[in-house]
Amino acid sequence: MALGQTESWGSRVGLILAMAGNAVGLGNFLRFPVQAVNNGGGAFIIPYLVCFLLMGIPLLWVEWSMGRFGGRSNNHSTPFILDSMTKKAFWKYFGVFGIFTNIAVASYYCYIESWTMSYVWHSIIGTFDGMSQTQVAQFFSKYVDIDKSLTGIPYEAVVFYVLCLLLNTFILSRGLAGVERAAKIGIPLLLVFGSFLAIRGLTLGASGASAEVPNASAWDGLNFLWTPQYSSLSDPKVWLAAAGQIFFTLSVGMGTIHCYAAYVKSKDDVALNAVSAGFTNEFVEVVLGSSIVIPIAAGYLGLDWVKENAGFGMAFQTMPFLFEKWGPILSTVAGVMWFGLLFFAGITSSLAMGTPWMGFMRDEFGWGRLKGAWSFGAIVLALGLPTVIFYEHGVFDEYDYWAGTVSLVVFALAESILFAWVFGIDKGWRELLSGSDLKVPNIYKFIIKYVTPLMLLLVFLGAVFTPLGNDWTAAFVSLFSGEGWQLDHASIIKTITNAGLHEQLVAATDPTEVARLEDRRFYTNAARLLLTTTFAALAGLVYLAARKRSSPSNQTNHE
Ligand code: PHE
Repeated sequence: MALGQTESWGSRVGLILAMAGNAVGLGNFLRFPVQAVNNGGGAFIIPYLVCFLLMGIPLLWVEWSMGRFGGRSNNHSTPFILDSMTKKAFWKYFGVFGIFTNIAVASYYCYIESWTMSYVWHSIIGTFDGMSQTQVAQFFSKYVDIDKSLTGIPYEAVVFYVLCLLLNTFILSRGLAGVERAAKIGIPLLLVFGSFLAIRGLTLGASGASAEVPNASAWDGLNFLWTPQYSSLSDPKVWLAAAGQIFFTLSVGMGTIHCYAAYVKSKDDVALNAVSAGFTNEFVEVVLGSSIVIPIAAGYLGLDWVKENAGFGMAFQTMPFLFEKWGPILSTVAGVMWFGLLFFAGITSSLAMGTPWMGFMRDEFGWGRLKGAWSFGAIVLALGLPTVIFYEHGVFDEYDYWAGTVSLVVFALAESILFAWVFGIDKGWRELLSGSDLKVPNIYKFIIKYVTPLMLLLVFLGAVFTPLGNDWTAAFVSLFSGEGWQLDHASIIKTITNAGLHEQLVAATDPTEVARLEDRRFYTNAARLLLTTTFAALAGLVYLAARKRSSPSNQTNHE
């Protein structure tokens, strides 16, 4: 069980595909279209692209540089990558985020991934044939309401979740080679499937109009997304949503990129690799991600329906029904392609989430791949089963909010300060340029130093202090007229105190409603307890590792 020789990527193509696979995920196909529609379509795109250029790209460079830097001294997870960049001991505890977030996100992310597996299966066996729109939607509700188990397989949601975790664990136990292999197969297939469906989406036009929805047109969906609207530029709500999407889709603020980059050889390029993986992700998100669900749904059900129903269920509750309109063969093909592409997008991301834990346990405690992968699988199972079993009580949403949203911003803010101000921008810049195959524009030195941290700070503060109704103009008016700042229930502060839930509880009179809300409060708090315990346990491991490192007998391990 010695540390053994350090792994590295098999080839540059493999590395870029793995990194692209890490970034390209369910976020590109499920989260992006929904965020775009809910934030005004064309009103969303400009803030989104600005966030990509001013936060996304800089953070990619920062994380790749940090990762390769840490990897040079044999550190493959953020606690000790951060530690290698500064003399201050507390930074390594910030690095706990880079393991914690992955474990917590993997727990619920693999659940969605397991839906896609199951839906591929159901598309093949023809479960959705002849179902009405309501029936397809109900199928999904039954699926997640596991007690009923009415989908044909007992406890289907749990069965597929466990299968999905087993598959992830198995691939992870093959180490980087396994991850690389999965990306080499998954990404090309995803592109083929995605292109097929996108062409269908783009050529549907008004052919899907029907007696019920006479003016349905796929073009309406596309126009809604692609007609820029400048009015939103002054709306912080849209900016926050855009920033959140950029984080999630690029996988920045998570710790996975650091980990992957730590396996890059120390003389190899990071600047061009980072940009290549980032742009690949954007291509998939902006081009493929916006050409499938929205135009197809608008093409049959009309834009108004899409605006009212935009949500993550669209992909599962509506798409199988719409595919049915393409005839028996094409609908099966489309179902397999759609859920298959989601599956490949998902698994190449969830694999990435396993690597920081494995890297950490190997660096610090000498755990080999098998032990690393299976322990990851076991932890994710323990933390993830509550999201499966208590899905409807809000455990899933709780994980998504704290681990999949808030943690990313906190960690990204911390690391951008560390990189530009503690490590120092001059050193950081040299690190980025060393071995670089790309001429990085000098302006980015300024952006990384000032603009990115400042924007991150604003995003963070905006989330902590979100004003009532998300109405920033009214909030400032009220502040300056001496009436104070009223927080929205969605602000981080009010979320912590469960203010919204309490208000509903006070207002509720119907006993079943009261019971439901009390239930929800219980599960929300239990989910938070699980998450904090996980974080604390990981911090404990980092503490142990640090003690181990400083004991004289162990000092040779990390040279
Ligand atoms: N970027 C992935 C997506 O778009 C999600 C992800 C987050 C993957 C963090 C790895 C790490 O779905």
